Amino acid sequence: MPAILTAAIESVSLRSVGCPNRPSQIGIYASNSYDMNVLLLGSGGREHALAWKIRQSALCGALYIAPGNAGTAQCGTNVDLDPLDFSALGRFCLEQSVRMMVVGPEEPLVRGIVDFFAADAALQQIAVIGPSARGAQLEGSKAFAKAFMQRHGIPTADYREFDLSNYSAGVEYLKTHALPVVLKADGLAAGKGVVIAQSHLEAIAELELMLPYAKFGEASRKVVVEEYLDGIELSLFVVTDGNDYLILPEAKDYKRIGEGDTGLNTGGMGAVSPVPFADAAFLEKVRTRIVEPTIQGIRQEGIEYRGFLFIGLTKVGDDPYVIEYNCRMGDPETEVVILRLQNDLLALLQDLAAGRLAASQVHTDPRAAATVVLVSGGYPGPYEKGMEVDGLDILREDDVLVFHAGTQEQEQKILTSGGRVLAVSAYGEDIPGAVRRSLRIIDFIGFDGMYFRRDIGHEFL
Ligand code: AMP
Ligand code: GLY
Repeated sequence: MPAILTAAIESVSLRSVGCPNRPSQIGIYASNSYDMNVLLLGSGGREHALAWKIRQSALCGALYIAPGNAGTAQCGTNVDLDPLDFSALGRFCLEQSVRMMVVGPEEPLVRGIVDFFAADAALQQIAVIGPSARGAQLEGSKAFAKAFMQRHGIPTADYREFDLSNYSAGVEYLKTHALPVVLKADGLAAGKGVVIAQSHLEAIAELELMLPYAKFGEASRKVVVEEYLDGIELSLFVVTDGNDYLILPEAKDYKRIGEGDTGLNTGGMGAVSPVPFADAAFLEKVRTRIVEPTIQGIRQEGIEYRGFLFIGLTKVGDDPYVIEYNCRMGDPETEVVILRLQNDLLALLQDLAAGRLAASQVHTDPRAAATVVLVSGGYPGPYEKGMEVDGLDILREDDVLVFHAGTQEQEQKILTSGGRVLAVSAYGEDIPGAVRRSLRIIDFIGFDGMYFRRDIGHEFL
């Protein structure tokens, strides 16, 4: 162990992120119900971070995670249920007196889990955190999202929509489009549905793959072609009950596999919060030009939306544009946003479910947070699973949290079970400090083939 680390590390032995039981704030949530049983859906780093935060809530009774990972198992009880098996989830909720279900990933939402629960007299009693299927179309259909933004005057890239019926018009359109040009499969394509074409030939070939060759199946039955926005990206998170909203701390994620933002796209290799270029004046523009009209649009169109809304933004010059909406929290952004959120998360979600967000406020930790994702060798291409993860039970600092993503416990060993394995998150005085802390802890962790980026937050160092 490097000497510099020994001094800094506390003598607490933990296998992963601790999940403290109750904070000291009991009493300020007097109007809320206690011992609320909660079911959280999902199995990534996002869900471990949410489980960690929910476990600390003064309101939390039993916490179940379906299906969870080795990290969530330390915050509650993992249950072997498929987040897409709505009937089984409904039965489980009734059997275990679950009062709130928090939906981590987008797919159950896009497939209508909220509508399924709302249509059943018994399941209606359960507060489901997430939008209706119609609301989830903001992520589930790029064409729906673009048309929504157009209807409500929300700044975004100009676009056209093509399918097989106007395929040749699409080819003609691409022949003279400014370069680069962006092609997006309309539906969910596991993060692979966006192509930034550098030449007309590449763009036309991609349109051919997506439409006549149905590269993404049903998801590319329609294609959105849009103008390339040359800017710098950030992620904004909003909680909304469809009427009122609160803005959570913003974050920036790092999608490319290689240092210096090079190489293939991944699910996300790290994130930081706050985002220094998102100053108060810029965030105010985001609020007035984007968040307000989005929530107003949701309200005007009568869309049921009680959940998280993730707005992917790009800053072009001094102005914000929407790149995409997601109907859930981001991963790995949640692993930094949740660190900076000082609120009792269940109290906030209970206010959201009860439509009393207007009376709530977000409290943000002034410290910075960073997360560095440890991935399996070969990711985002093919990689091996089942590698033993070492170093998780060594001593740690209490301002560093190791969130599990693709892990699984077997015979008291933690094994890798996915591309993204762990998200090592830390607080710091500033972003460089937070990144340094994460990297120091990573020195202790190892598994065969482990890879990570040392330059998360590089533009702010
Ligand atoms: P998505 O799958 O929608 O998250 O898009 C993946 C990535 O493609 C985004 O995070 C952006 O980096 C990039 N992207 C999407 N749309 C545009 C655009 N209109 N201009 C520039 N980059 C874009
Ligand atoms: N980090 C981007 C996402 O969750 O989609």
